[in-house]
Amino acid sequence: MSFSHQGLKEKEQASRIQEVSSLKQDKFKVTVSLDKERLMSKSPLYEKYNIQKYDLHPNFNFAHLDELIPKNTPEYIDHGLNYVERIVRALFYFKQCSLIGPSGTGKTHIVYLVAELTGLPIWEINCGLSTSSFDLIGRFIGLGKENWVDGLLTQWLRKGGIMYLDEANMMKQDVATRLNPVLDTRGHLVLNEKDSEVIERHKYGYLIISMNPATAEFSGTKPLNAAMRRRMAVWINFDFLSVGETISQQEVKMLRERTKLDQDTAYKIIQAGAELRRQYKAGDLPYGPSLGDLINWGTLVSDGNTALVAAEETIIGLTSDNVEVQADVRRIIEAFFNKTQ
Ligand SMILES: Nc1ncnc2c1ncn2[C@@H]1O[C@H](COP(=O)(O)OP(=O)(O)OP(=O)(O)O)[C@@H](O)[C@H]1O
Ligand SMILES: [Mg+2]
Repeated sequence: MSFSHQGLKEKEQASRIQEVSSLKQDKFKVTVSLDKERLMSKSPLYEKYNIQKYDLHPNFNFAHLDELIPKNTPEYIDHGLNYVERIVRALFYFKQCSLIGPSGTGKTHIVYLVAELTGLPIWEINCGLSTSSFDLIGRFIGLGKENWVDGLLTQWLRKGGIMYLDEANMMKQDVATRLNPVLDTRGHLVLNEKDSEVIERHKYGYLIISMNPATAEFSGTKPLNAAMRRRMAVWINFDFLSVGETISQQEVKMLRERTKLDQDTAYKIIQAGAELRRQYKAGDLPYGPSLGDLINWGTLVSDGNTALVAAEETIIGLTSDNVEVQADVRRIIEAFFNKTQ
């Protein structure tokens, strides 16, 4: 398990957030002021997402953690499923919720959007990578017992905001054991390492976990441990916008806006992507492209490359290192584009 924020320095955490934010193109930024007064009363976005009534930090300002609050998160297509509202509502009532869906369906994206809209800092841990509970909880640096440095979980408990646990079902058992008492709404952590200091969960400490569905198709996944499962009151499912024969016009439109492609090419890219996703969900391919991946493909097409050349650099290598799998992907794409297109 490892931290996406690469450890303990807040600067690094901020740069990770910048990195995530800068993935998105300027024109389609959701511009939100962090001035909460204005946000709550006047922002059209607050009304658009219907979250005015859920204040997640009444009379409490997170300005001192401003660099951990995402900015300029791009627009999110939600298919009328009101994800933002459902997540904010779950946090308001239950302090935590769980997002389930295949890789690339926008779970991380929406967590950043929720954090931005509600003015909460994000602490992010990817549980799929191998990191020790020292990194999570904290440790003494150097010789002796003088310089204790909090881990990311400990910092979140003390300072509040959203703890985002990505791939929560891949968490190692020793880490899960430490985490479970923290997950109670009035949870706390006992720092056995540090003279059994007790750290209460911050009043505005929220938790979102996300994971891929634990089914036979998603190899490597396992069910969430029961202790964690029963502490999650709300479960929200995510899926790709277009899969197989079902093509989302909104997804085509977003691709066109982000790449300036013509309608026909954009439609075919989404169609090819939808077929690759169908095969991924059926367990025939190891990966299905996200909207972000299809935007990368479209960007190279828009730059003057044929669709096949552009796919070679963006989609085909991304799906797998295995040449046979790459050949399958190439065949699927060739069904939508000929060599000169
Ligand atoms: N509904 C959507 N609206 C706008 N962009 C989307 C949507 N779904 C996915 N994307 C884009 O697709 C890319 C992948 O999304 P993201 O990283 O949030 O997926 P994820 O579900 O967190 O995947 P993983 O399970 O691998 O962590 C991002 O560039 C994201 O902006
Ligand atoms: Mg993610």
